[in-house]
Amino acid sequence: MEHTRIKELLKSEDFGREVVVKGWVRTFRNNQFIAINDGSSTKNIQAVVDFANLDSALLKRVNTGAAIRIKGILIESQGKGQNVEITVTELNILGDSDPDKYPLQPKKHSLEFLREIAHLRFRTGTFNAVFKVRNALSFAVHKFFNERDFVYMHTPIITGADAEGAGEMFKVTTFDFDNIPRTEDGKVDYKEDFFGKATNLTVSGQLEGELAAMALGNIYTFGPTFRAENSNTTRHLAEFWMIEPEMAFYELEDNMDLAEELLKYVIQYALDHCPDEIELLKNRLLEEEKNKPQSERSELDLVDKLRFVVDNKFERVSYTDAIKILKRSKPNQKKQFKYLIDEWGADLQSEHERYLVEKHFKKPVILVDYPAEIKAFYMKQNEVDANGHKTVRAMDILFPGIGEMVGGSQREENLDKLINRMNEVGIEQSEMDWFLDTRRFGSAPHSGFGVGFERLVLFVTGMTNIRDVIPFPRTPNNAEF
Ligand code: 4AD
Ligand code: MG
Repeated sequence: MEHTRIKELLKSEDFGREVVVKGWVRTFRNNQFIAINDGSSTKNIQAVVDFANLDSALLKRVNTGAAIRIKGILIESQGKGQNVEITVTELNILGDSDPDKYPLQPKKHSLEFLREIAHLRFRTGTFNAVFKVRNALSFAVHKFFNERDFVYMHTPIITGADAEGAGEMFKVTTFDFDNIPRTEDGKVDYKEDFFGKATNLTVSGQLEGELAAMALGNIYTFGPTFRAENSNTTRHLAEFWMIEPEMAFYELEDNMDLAEELLKYVIQYALDHCPDEIELLKNRLLEEEKNKPQSERSELDLVDKLRFVVDNKFERVSYTDAIKILKRSKPNQKKQFKYLIDEWGADLQSEHERYLVEKHFKKPVILVDYPAEIKAFYMKQNEVDANGHKTVRAMDILFPGIGEMVGGSQREENLDKLINRMNEVGIEQSEMDWFLDTRRFGSAPHSGFGVGFERLVLFVTGMTNIRDVIPFPRTPNNAEF
């Protein structure tokens, strides 16, 4: 390799050495100072050209976005904000970038604008940092589980099952829509389709994960999941990545401990391995919040907020206690919540989750023992309590600024109870026979959870819209690129 990566050069003190850099022009000032970025660092290296001795036609081609190669001498920088710079002896244009047509200008662009040109936004400092942090977090997830002897299991993307029973699925078919085969009574004849049955993109790898856990012990999945829910919010994607560990012989307490340990571990990993990126994102957030009224600004900066989560035990609270807190809360009394909490059984909306973590407890909260009615069929059923309330051993982890980060539970291991629940919610037993075999043969307590990976990246980067932490977001009416 002829060239050295900018990240290495910025750390170098080997002044006087001849170096070659290849990268893209961020800015070119005074016909003299080129800021070059090659992606290796959020920071640019400054290259100084002697314009009197260079072809002026060549210099005209040093435009923002152009790919260039420079050769020069590494020297200690006189300017502030940088330690090293390069005195250019040779300059080549590798690829031009027409300044009249290139959408990225050397100025601040709004995140909304950059979302429209998501194919180019990798070229900005903010997105360089976001995707480096995303990379570090995903590596840390694998490292965490690998160190604990979990088996990484690849569960299918195409499946016939609706793991969450919520019906928010994208269909997978090879049918010709102008000529869909039908049965005698006019229904779509899936027997004629590619798989000979109705299939969809997976909403969760959990059910297949359970099959593996009930043999291998501890497994995890980490892959894309798909939900056709029409929620156009800053927290929802139609295609998102989920981390789903599943552990045999774990009860709910063990499950909570593991989830808390995982989140703290990966956040600490990002702090340790992405200091420059997180610093840039911290400053971005401070800048952004300057436009907000004082009351809406964060009390802690990004780094302090991340440290706070790593250093403090998550609050563990039952759904029933949470409802009591919410009922008595100011926004409920003053009717400021969009959905007022008046009785036990209400599903919690993000405004309620955020009140609990941001205003009441001021730290991540693990809510447990939710009403069975608002949770998935597979969760372990608790004994009916003195008030006649039916709850399940569910746990949701709520994060400040995010709301629900994790959803999980202990699983119902009793065959009859599970079948009863499936009947109640209208899930065909014949469709799920393979799943029920785990309860027929050698059933045992087991638990698992799912972390929404983009919500994790959102938290760690301090970004505010989930579309900005996945390279190519898929949301209602949007599947560009
Ligand atoms: O709470 P959910 O629906 O749980 C499950 O899918 C379980 N099968 C997980 C398990 O126990 N193995 O989803 C888990 C997490 C949520 O807490 C949230 O962080 C994220 O996935 N999530 C989404 N993230 C982005 N966009 C969406 N549309 C999401 N839906 C859920
Ligand atoms: Mg959930």
